[in-house]
Amino acid sequence: NGTSPMASVTSLSDSVQQQLASALSATLPEAAGADPLLRRSDRADYQANGILALAKKAKANPRELATQVVSQVATGAVIQDIEVSGPGFLNITVSDGAITENLAARYADETGRLGVPFAAHPGTTVIDYAQPNVAKEMHVGHLRSAVIGDSVVQLLEFTGETVVRRHHIGDWGTQFGMLIQYLDEHPHELDHKTSAEDTAASGEEAMSNLDRLYKTARKLFDSDEEFKTRARRRVVDLQAGDPHTLAVWQKFVDESKIYFFSVFEKLDMEVRDPDIVGESGYNDMLAETCRLLEESGVAVRSEGALCVFFDDVKGPEGNPVPLIVQKSDGGYGYAATDLSAIRDRVFNLKASTLLYVVDARQALHFRMVFETARRAGWLNDGVTAVQLAFGTVLGKDGKPFKTRAGETVKLQDLLDEAVDRATAVVRDKAEKVGLSEQEIEENGRYVGIGAVKYADLSTSAVRDYKFDLDQMVSLNGDTSVYLQYAYARIQSILRKAGEARPAAHPELALAPAERALGLHLDQFAETVLEVAASYEPHKLAAYLYQLASHLTTFYDQCPVLKAESPAQIENRLFLVDLTARTLHRGMSLLGIRTPDKL
Ligand code: ARG
Repeated sequence: NGTSPMASVTSLSDSVQQQLASALSATLPEAAGADPLLRRSDRADYQANGILALAKKAKANPRELATQVVSQVATGAVIQDIEVSGPGFLNITVSDGAITENLAARYADETGRLGVPFAAHPGTTVIDYAQPNVAKEMHVGHLRSAVIGDSVVQLLEFTGETVVRRHHIGDWGTQFGMLIQYLDEHPHELDHKTSAEDTAASGEEAMSNLDRLYKTARKLFDSDEEFKTRARRRVVDLQAGDPHTLAVWQKFVDESKIYFFSVFEKLDMEVRDPDIVGESGYNDMLAETCRLLEESGVAVRSEGALCVFFDDVKGPEGNPVPLIVQKSDGGYGYAATDLSAIRDRVFNLKASTLLYVVDARQALHFRMVFETARRAGWLNDGVTAVQLAFGTVLGKDGKPFKTRAGETVKLQDLLDEAVDRATAVVRDKAEKVGLSEQEIEENGRYVGIGAVKYADLSTSAVRDYKFDLDQMVSLNGDTSVYLQYAYARIQSILRKAGEARPAAHPELALAPAERALGLHLDQFAETVLEVAASYEPHKLAAYLYQLASHLTTFYDQCPVLKAESPAQIENRLFLVDLTARTLHRGMSLLGIRTPDKL
């Protein structure tokens, strides 16, 4: 009945595709293995457009070839009808029973995977995402990296990939000399008044402590020459691994983590401490990375600095712009750390894919780092390195998102506002749905945070997008709230169903809206595998939005609890329940919750 022990379900489009492919190679042996190019279609369930090109290649008449292929296709259990249309397209209709049986097999999958198979060749991906900087406020760019990265982690793990998460936080560099020296001279500046249990409050306090300390240290550094000298000496101590200096530095890292974790918690996102391996984590490798590059001739000394040059990377005057691996004063920068991280990820973590969820404005840096690693032999054919580059978050005015004073917007404030607005939306309907105050607040968080994530994930990552809270929490249109309501509405129907239970009835004829919903549900597996392979969560968002739209049409045309017969009630309950499970699974792959009552 379609369920195999592996529980993965062959989609209808795959079975049709296979039948067409074998009919095609039976008709035209040289077309064996050719793709019949099957697509969903408005005219029939599917249309195959591949015959035209094949006929052209074989110098055959496309309509004739199409007619011959049709005569080879056995209609019956799955394909109910197949006909030639236009210059040589095939229009294919599948049977109602096949649709219901296929969906029933997905529904029966006890693993909760809805019949989605694992990827054919899973590997190990090291994903670099959610990488804020120590002692600095997180900004909307860090939000994007976290949201996109988290979704890609969920997607990859779902397809069976081994995923190693790396939060490459900025925790190393010359600015720490100044901070360490200041804290050493004013040891109580990072003390907390809030209890550690209140993570939100202590996160905020941690950030304001760090911010205040940064500003005062900076002022002193700029005005007091003696402090400046002491601060500079501290950088040297830090790089030399002086224990006391490192201990003070660690206080900054710990304080910042309190803040980071409070933001990630607000984002309803799991970030684990052992996965936070910042720039400092590669410190022991930096000298060797430079030695290997210099000895192999990949990097050369130029004006005292260790540089890698590229034919196609030039400045405005045509002068070459190198990747600087070591500065002339002996200091190591961002590139040395990233090159060392590649060695670690390839040779120690055994990555087959390196993925970097980083702002598009760092594209040149990654292009040069990857090319350097290739020349050094650290990246070879067995390893793919990709920057999943994302665009800029814009304000309503279309300019990079800043406060009026031109400062970066505090992430906590932004998320709090999203939750406040969402809570108001939830509260509006709360009485009708019968929500307690606690449920209102919980749903407000899920809706508000979901709205922020969905707005980010529903546009292609490389594109800039406008941060518009009014639009994000709107009940109509392509928003997470719309999808969350679709889910909750189904749950409410299932609660009202009383004795009636969802059950598939393949013997029943389906209404057009049921067919459309069913065929879209059938595409879930294909969509997820594609989206995971191409790192394009926005295509999953689009799929889910279409699913909710199909559901809306279905409600308009097909009564569920008032359907014609008990069997039809059961079958429609089964259809909506599978839709709910698909919405739930899809949303969770985007990192978004689906409350039962809304
Ligand atoms: N901390 C950096 C920033 O805030 C992002 C780090 C990206 N990852 C990396 N491996 N370079 O811009």
